[in-house]
Amino acid sequence: VQAAKDGKTVVIGLAADSGCGKSTFMRRMTSIFGGSAKPPAGGNPDSNTLISDMTTVICLDDYHCLDRKGRAEKGVTALAPEAQNFDLMYEQVKAMKEGKAADKPIYNHVTGALDAPEKIESPNILVIEGLHPFYDERVRDLLDFKVYLDISDEIKFAWKIQRDMAERGHSLDSIKKSIEARKPDFDAYIDPQKKHADMIIQVLPTQLVPDDEGKILRVRLIQKEGKKLFDPVYLFDEGSTISWIPCGRKLTCSFPGIKFYYGPDTWYGEDVSVLEMDGQFDKLEELIYVESHLSNTSAKFYGEITQQMLKNSSFPGSNNGTGLLQTIIGLKVREVYERITEKEVVPVS
Ligand code: ADP
Ligand code: G6P
Repeated sequence: VQAAKDGKTVVIGLAADSGCGKSTFMRRMTSIFGGSAKPPAGGNPDSNTLISDMTTVICLDDYHCLDRKGRAEKGVTALAPEAQNFDLMYEQVKAMKEGKAADKPIYNHVTGALDAPEKIESPNILVIEGLHPFYDERVRDLLDFKVYLDISDEIKFAWKIQRDMAERGHSLDSIKKSIEARKPDFDAYIDPQKKHADMIIQVLPTQLVPDDEGKILRVRLIQKEGKKLFDPVYLFDEGSTISWIPCGRKLTCSFPGIKFYYGPDTWYGEDVSVLEMDGQFDKLEELIYVESHLSNTSAKFYGEITQQMLKNSSFPGSNNGTGLLQTIIGLKVREVYERITEKEVVPVS
């Protein structure tokens, strides 16, 4: 499936708790590079790896050194650092960044055990996604671009209920218990990584109306300023503070409408700019009106963001800020790749 690689490997890190939209985000990102992502040909059907022409996405669960049984014996969760083999993670990500293949272990999510390794060739773009991509300083230093999905507790809960209750038949009580059981380790080991990210997507409940169900989202893109490899996107005027309700002649908004915000802020002591969208689109085609007011999006032609959103409209979050801001980050990944390799990626439709 994979085209022969020429030139540098760019390494992207995507961090988030499980059930926070990593796979959805990966599908949006890889779609920008075209080609459908598949597991390694002829390999283990329980592989967590997804390969397309330009990108290889590996799941860091594969670097568990304690399997399900081992974790139970030691009384640690899958979020604990002692359950991860950071030495091997570092060695293999480094090898792939240097153009070498790696025999990566496979954590089998069905059996909870480690399966025989699979050989992963060095790709053009290597994405490492999971719970701890920025935890180990050596691994962190290998990353060219770091993304964190920061989902507030209310929304995480709403999404878990939707998936685990509706799709997997778990009870409300057991979902609550499993979230509570993870929380201390999440707070200790996962959440603190977000200070290292270049871009963060924060997902919060709407401020437009009281909304207890977490259906309407307020989504913020936090972007570090002054980085060499990408330019932050902005609304109307770079550096200004802007509040914008685009509902009117060009955009159909039903209650409670849509509100954008753009402005400067700080994130763990560093300068950032924030682009925020609260609410949801009624008609996705009309996103073009919003897109035409954004600058530095890294789109290669007029309407590329809207086209991507329409193409992937069946993915969760397509009518709100999660889909829009994930798509923008996908374009930033392409920009980072082009700046590092000095090669041009032909846009796909
Ligand atoms: P992860 O890969 O981090 O486990 P997924 O991308 O599989 O997460 O998403 C887990 C579930 O969360 C999805 O099945 C969906 O129900 C919900 N979800 C994810 N992203 C969104 C979104 N943007 N809007 C609404 N629900 C979402
Ligand atoms: C993976 C996931 C974790 C999840 C774990 C399940 O490691 O990344 O988020 O909690 O599997 O572990 P368990 O011990 O419940 O099988």
